[in-house]
Amino acid sequence: MAEQTIIVTGSKGGAGTTTVALNVATQIAQLTKKRTALLELARPFGQIALMLDIEPRFTLLDALDRGARLDAAVLASLMTRHKIGVDMLLGARHLALTAEQRQRATIDGLLHILEMAQAAYDFVIVDLGFVNAAEWARVLQAAGTLLLVSEPSELALGMLRRYLEAVDSAGLEREHFRIVINRARQNDEEMIFRHESSLRQTFFAQLPNDYRQVSDAVKLGIPLVANSNNPLVARYRQMVMQLTRPSAPSVRPMAEPEASASHK
Ligand SMILES: Nc1ncnc2c1ncn2[C@@H]1O[C@H](COP(=O)(O)OP(=O)(O)OP(=O)(O)O)[C@@H](O)[C@H]1O
Ligand SMILES: [Mg+2]
Repeated sequence: MAEQTIIVTGSKGGAGTTTVALNVATQIAQLTKKRTALLELARPFGQIALMLDIEPRFTLLDALDRGARLDAAVLASLMTRHKIGVDMLLGARHLALTAEQRQRATIDGLLHILEMAQAAYDFVIVDLGFVNAAEWARVLQAAGTLLLVSEPSELALGMLRRYLEAVDSAGLEREHFRIVINRARQNDEEMIFRHESSLRQTFFAQLPNDYRQVSDAVKLGIPLVANSNNPLVARYRQMVMQLTRPSAPSVRPMAEPEASASHK
């Protein structure tokens, strides 16, 4: 049974959910050397294969197609093994489903896949994308750790507030969501602090904005592992150490100068 299931979800689209899930999985595999799975459940189609420049033999659709016949061994056989040490169930190229597939692409179908991954791996990381918390409550509850990704803009932090209100009305506990501010710049500190105070929730981590590092990783088809002196990579590593050792202090605030040129 998995030691830890980490679901990464966004408080809006485009906040960096996939980048965070991929790099958290990578750092976990590197630091723990344990069996690590990354499930790309975000819809309507997968993004990680493009980011890593790989052509998966099987995808989420194949896992859904197996229905109840999917056990831990079958799931393991559908995973794409990446040299970084992470087994990935990659999202489909599209979810233009047949009627039969549509019946299986349900929350129950996805939960079954998650359970099988928990049976086969020590760490399971899920890219869930941006979802309606009420509709996806059962999946969100299956996580030991929930990372909720947002960005340092008034719009994104306003969306974060709405997301947390939706969490409350779905009967979920907002304290279970650890908020990760992605693409933070030094001059965002004041705005971040203001939103933390008004939400009365300390954000779990801030990941610096580093357009060049992230886009180079995509160009090279690798997650962010190459340059361990880079503040963004260092912050991912710190965050993962914190996640896998829950008693350590939280990862904030930013101390280093802003990472290399940021164009976004
Ligand atoms: N720390 C960072 N610094 C700079 N750019 C980043 C950082 N993290 C992610 N990005 C960039 O932000 C964009 C959105 O990231 P990503 O695709 O991971 O978001 P997402 O939440 O998964 O989006 P979607 O809702 O479309 O699935 C990408 O272009 C990515 O390269
Ligand atoms: Mg994504």
